[in-house]
Amino acid sequence: MKITFADPARPAKGVAVVFVLEGGKWTETGALLDKKTKGALRRAAKAAKFTGKKGQELTVLAPTGTSLDRVLAVGLGNADGIDAKILNEAGGAIQAALAKHTASADIHVDEIKKLPLDTSKMAAEIGYGAELRSYRFDKYRTREKAENKPTLKGLTIRVPGAAAARKAHAPLGKIADGVFLTRDLVSEPPNVLYPAEFADRIKAELTALGAKVTVLGVKEMEKLGMGALLGVGQGSTRESKMVIMEWNGLKADKKGAAKPLAFIGKGVCFDTGGISIKPAAGMEDMKWDMGGAGVVSGLMKALAGRKAEVHVIGAVGLVENMPDGNAQRPGDIVTSMSGQTVEVLNTDAEGRLVLCDVLHYVKERFKPKFMVDLATLTGAVIIALGESRAGMFANDDDLADKIFTAGEEIGERVWRLPLGDEYDKLLDSDAADMKNISGGRGAGSITAAQFLQRFVGDTPWVHLDIAGVTWSKKDTAVVPKGGTAFGVRLLEKFVAENYG
Ligand code: BES
Ligand code: MN
Ligand code: ZN
Repeated sequence: MKITFADPARPAKGVAVVFVLEGGKWTETGALLDKKTKGALRRAAKAAKFTGKKGQELTVLAPTGTSLDRVLAVGLGNADGIDAKILNEAGGAIQAALAKHTASADIHVDEIKKLPLDTSKMAAEIGYGAELRSYRFDKYRTREKAENKPTLKGLTIRVPGAAAARKAHAPLGKIADGVFLTRDLVSEPPNVLYPAEFADRIKAELTALGAKVTVLGVKEMEKLGMGALLGVGQGSTRESKMVIMEWNGLKADKKGAAKPLAFIGKGVCFDTGGISIKPAAGMEDMKWDMGGAGVVSGLMKALAGRKAEVHVIGAVGLVENMPDGNAQRPGDIVTSMSGQTVEVLNTDAEGRLVLCDVLHYVKERFKPKFMVDLATLTGAVIIALGESRAGMFANDDDLADKIFTAGEEIGERVWRLPLGDEYDKLLDSDAADMKNISGGRGAGSITAAQFLQRFVGDTPWVHLDIAGVTWSKKDTAVVPKGGTAFGVRLLEKFVAENYG
């Protein structure tokens, strides 16, 4: 969907979107239309109990006294409470309300007194929200009925100072591009998106933006001694890969100075559980077990796309976890790149085995300022936090606080869970340096995080368990059902606020 910015104009034809503040305060264009209709808009509002609360919407069809087909009034709540998140949600609501019957619409953004952000920023955030909500993964639907297909092709945002709005929107459009890459990757079926295909796609996407991309195959990873990652992939006919993306947008005089930021993602392109096989019901969900790697790829695209002045590494471990004559067995002992040995007691606890080698590699190779990993790591985090917050684990309070804050602002929220020696010792093994599951029933997300912590040394580190938030069964304001890309906007915000 195309978002354009244009100078204000009186609504004449088609669809007009106007805004209303709490207490029935219509912004300029809305008030003007109400006058033209001899008060029909305000009467309709009264009849529908539409008072301008945030989240409220009112549609008036073919209003008398105008040649318009439709007026959509959208509530924003109190002027002093309006922030980017509320505007994104308003944009998303507009997109959803018009998607199925309208080709284009004019959104009239008038000046609002006591607005905490300027009007051009307001217009930009509304456009961004509409864009985020417009995503659809329909490339494999060849027989969809015309009446079910979205008709909305573009939105024109009419605002004083359209050029400033366009400029404020530009970086947001790049973030949306990153979000859409993640959603595409997460939505692709597992017969199409296997490790090599994943690697090819992100290499093409990121090199086009000027990032450096390195792809390692099994031979290279064997040389590095990545026995934990390779053990997971050994039952698959699809070759395991690791991809390292590097974006250095620092100014020439700073280029070599600072340590890079690093983001690491679990990319299990399909997780059958391996020999410890999963039940059939719901196994199809495991196509999105590469969600962490998808987020890291989308985040890198967003940062490179908006030419962020930061040095950042994105690394993803890509494997397929299959049962096979060559698959790893429960009881196998593998040697990780760090030299630590792992007794694999359950081949379905594979994400940690992939991540431990990628974490160690990134730590040694880049000596980063910090590492943030994302993984659809445990079903247990869904039991703990449900589907609205990701689980967060950290060895560094400052880093955790920064990510928490970014999440509250952007609406991708996390909740910190504890780490501790009492959990760590549950992973001690009699046969090797550690086992990959605790064997007990409790604290499954914590023991998974403890496992990862054994590989990060004293590098500041945050682990986000995104198993509950990577896929959504229902639409929300800026996220249509399906792959959410949870983490892209969160970490982009975290980088923008703290590093550039
Ligand atoms: N990919 C799964 C976790 C998962 C479950 C993600 C549901 C999204 C939705 C992971 O590899 C896994 O199988 N974890 C096991 C760990 C157990 C064997 C210790 C789990 O959560 O049951
Ligand atoms: Mn698993
Ligand atoms: Zn998994």
